Amino acid sequence: MKNRYTIACEDLARCPQRWLITGVAGFIGSNLLEALLKLDQQVVGLDNFSTGSHSNLEEVSSSVGSERWARFKLIEGDIRNASDCARATQGIDHVSHQAALGSVPRSLLDPVVTNDVNIGGFLNVLVAARDEEVKSFTYAASSSTYGDHPGLPKVENLIGKPLSPYAVTKYVNELYADVFARSYDFNTVGLRYFNVFGKRQDPNGAYAAVIPRWIAALIRGEGIQINGNGKTSRDFCYVENVVQANILAATAANNAKNEVYNVAVGGRTTLNQLLEILAEQLRNRKIANSSPIRYGEFRGGDVLHSQASIEKICRLLGYSDPIHIQEGLAIAMNWYVDRFEREIGWSEMKSL
Ligand SMILES: NC(=O)c1ccc[n+]([C@@H]2O[C@H](COP(=O)([O-])OP(=O)(O)OC[C@H]3O[C@@H](n4cnc5c(N)ncnc54)[C@H](O)[C@@H]3O)[C@@H](O)[C@H]2O)c1
Repeated sequence: MKNRYTIACEDLARCPQRWLITGVAGFIGSNLLEALLKLDQQVVGLDNFSTGSHSNLEEVSSSVGSERWARFKLIEGDIRNASDCARATQGIDHVSHQAALGSVPRSLLDPVVTNDVNIGGFLNVLVAARDEEVKSFTYAASSSTYGDHPGLPKVENLIGKPLSPYAVTKYVNELYADVFARSYDFNTVGLRYFNVFGKRQDPNGAYAAVIPRWIAALIRGEGIQINGNGKTSRDFCYVENVVQANILAATAANNAKNEVYNVAVGGRTTLNQLLEILAEQLRNRKIANSSPIRYGEFRGGDVLHSQASIEKICRLLGYSDPIHIQEGLAIAMNWYVDRFEREIGWSEMKSL
């Protein structure tokens, strides 16, 4: 029997829709763009390129081919600007709101800008989508909303106090979404992503996520810094699972809307285990690595353990067969190895 995701994709391919992806030039946005264009959808993308890149879009363009790429229109603009949001939502059926400033440490250093983008910008996109009477509005929420709640696995209705300004912004998004359902009968779906990884996730910069940062360090032979004793655990989620969740959310029945859902695998991997998997994958590819490992302080704003219950998203949205960490890392690793081969050369990589 076909699962709901396959059916949703077949329906979309048969009857293409018009989508807006905010944050389209970022890691998750560009992966969603690629999937939607491969389903022959029309897509408008809104991005200000603060953390996203043109090279992400160029990669999607080569992957989908010129005919499908012609179905994409880019608007370079800012979600903090209400008129950019109104322009981008014109004639749109489905909004997938991904644009935000990610990173807990960034939000601790500059809570004001994170607040402006993640709350002010979110509200602008929400209002524009409501005014355009779009068929669906899906937004990137975050597992950081669980804050200091100690329960494992995380279930959607049990949250604690936020541990960072970033977590506050993501929780406020959920509150606004809920109020828009009550006040304006405007339906949304929030997707609480848990540590997403995959191709096009930026390995560089102070706010890079742990998986691309460590892959880059291992390949370049640079030191690995583990915050804490390495026993911190996460439910690492391959990006294709996030794409699945977005498509299921956009095409969900009304009774599954005005809800938030965990998007993850339901597994738990410690940082020490993660490092071992990454090192092994490089060894399998005959790439030597001898990065020195240093354990440091736990990082402020981080939760110690995180693992999702995915019961709700499976039951109400029909999410199924998420790709597990080992398989996802193998696919992502191919992409990173390719990228670094171009950057520093194969022989250089092998000889590290
Ligand atoms: N990656 C994860 O593990 C993870 C986990 C939980 C939630 N999320 C959320 O998922 C979404 C996508 O994250 P990502 O990892 O792809 O990050 P990313 O930084 O790669 O992508 C974000 C995109 O938004 C754009 N953007 C930022 N501010 C903007 C603004 N003011 N106007 C227009 N565009 C703007 C950036 O240029 C970038 O292209 C974010 O909302 C993030 O908070 C991500």
